[in-house]
Amino acid sequence: MLHGPNLNLLGDREPEIYGRITLAEIDRRLTALAAELGVHVETFQSNHEGELIDRIQSARGRISAIVVNAAGYTHTSVALRDALAASGVPVIEVHLSNVHRRERFRHRSLIAGIATGQICGFGVDSYLLGLRAAAALAAGG
Ligand code: DQA
Repeated sequence: MLHGPNLNLLGDREPEIYGRITLAEIDRRLTALAAELGVHVETFQSNHEGELIDRIQSARGRISAIVVNAAGYTHTSVALRDALAASGVPVIEVHLSNVHRRERFRHRSLIAGIATGQICGFGVDSYLLGLRAAAALAAGG
């Protein structure tokens, strides 16, 4: 599970859009669901594009799927898209908010074109649905 820039501020950051849930609570719920599904989840947050890319590259061969909320980089980063495409595993794009009913610049995702699918608009449930999709894909379905 990759968390992009500014998501470390969840809880405080624009709560009218992102709610009051913290990143630690999201990670706790992901870990609990992973245990229920019988899979292992690693979570990583960075505000730095290069660190996210390094993490994707260092996970090569060790992971079966990537769930990613690339936050602002969703709309700008060719380099992150390329790293995800090169990972060789299914990518599930998630967002807390429904990016399609927000500002126009959020309607374009550079990740969507290389992702298996996108889940947005359901708050923390976007992440949990994303993990369910990742587990199903990793199991071959
Ligand atoms: C976001 C949506 C992005 O447009 C924004 O830049 C974020 C969060 C979301 O989860 O709704 O930082 O990815």
